[in-house]
Amino acid sequence: MTSITERLAILGCGTMGEAIVSGLLRAGQVAPERVTVTVRRQSVGARLHERHGVTATTNNLAACHGADVVLLALKPQRLPKIVADPTIRGALAGKLVISIAAGVTLQQLSAWLPESALIRAMPNTPCLIGEGMTVLARGPAVADPAVALAQRIFETVGACIELEDKHLDAVTGLGGSGPAFVYVMLESIADGGVMMGLPRAVALQIAAQVFQGAARMVLQTGLHPAALKDQVTTPAGCTIAGLLTMEDGRIRSVLARTIQEATRVAQGLGDDSKSER
Ligand SMILES: NC(=O)c1ccc[n+]([C@@H]2O[C@H](COP(=O)([O-])OP(=O)(O)OC[C@H]3O[C@@H](n4cnc5c(N)ncnc54)[C@H](OP(=O)(O)O)[C@@H]3O)[C@@H](O)[C@H]2O)c1
Repeated sequence: MTSITERLAILGCGTMGEAIVSGLLRAGQVAPERVTVTVRRQSVGARLHERHGVTATTNNLAACHGADVVLLALKPQRLPKIVADPTIRGALAGKLVISIAAGVTLQQLSAWLPESALIRAMPNTPCLIGEGMTVLARGPAVADPAVALAQRIFETVGACIELEDKHLDAVTGLGGSGPAFVYVMLESIADGGVMMGLPRAVALQIAAQVFQGAARMVLQTGLHPAALKDQVTTPAGCTIAGLLTMEDGRIRSVLARTIQEATRVAQGLGDDSKSER
């Protein structure tokens, strides 16, 4: 029994769109015949149809006409050219439109789609395995049931919370880009294990389980990470020795500034005067 009965269209079904589609279908919350995805190349659409059983097309207008809820998963720079088209704007009038485009504000979206109920969302790629983190921001005229529907969609692929639009660029830098930063950290500690003689596959398995276990400890105990760190740290032991080495490398400011820089760049992604990246 699927819980989402609305017909869903995903415009621009690339990495992120497919992560959401896969997650939704994997959770059994939406039937493939109620999902239409669009792409630029027909061959890419054919592969999406083969993999997921959804309808795939290069016709954005037809997809918008046939849907109750439309998810905009196009690159930010492509968005204005497509959604500001009067025929698309007309097809989306009165419908719930959810944009996941990084850096594109609700104000920009409502200038392009003044007659749609608009939600801005920032998911991340772990949606693919049901472990995503999505933050939603609602447009001015969006009522609770529309937000609840968006929340149901994203909760099938992970956790989902609502915040004000002003926070969404920081959410993009932390939650959207965050998995890439974590992969680098994970690979780095595995490298350390390899340096000390562990086989690569074993080092990666241990490193990944360490990240998963530590993240779950924070989420499940509700304890501050510093308190959990202190639990691991025996006086004169190996953990405090490693921790001091990390601090020598200014790891905290490097990681915090990584999010600051990603947020700064996210703020400019929705600027349609910039060339496509
Ligand atoms: N990647 C992330 O981790 C992440 C996280 C959060 C939010 N986002 C946001 O999600 C959006 C998509 O990012 P992505 O990484 O998934 O990009 P992507 O993999 O490049 O996907 C973009 C998709 O748009 C399609 N497309 C291009 N022109 C089109 C057109 N005229 N009509 C219909 N489809 C068209 C492309 O089709 P073809 O393959 O045929 O060219 C491709 O499938 C962006 O706005 C990004 O800011 C991304």
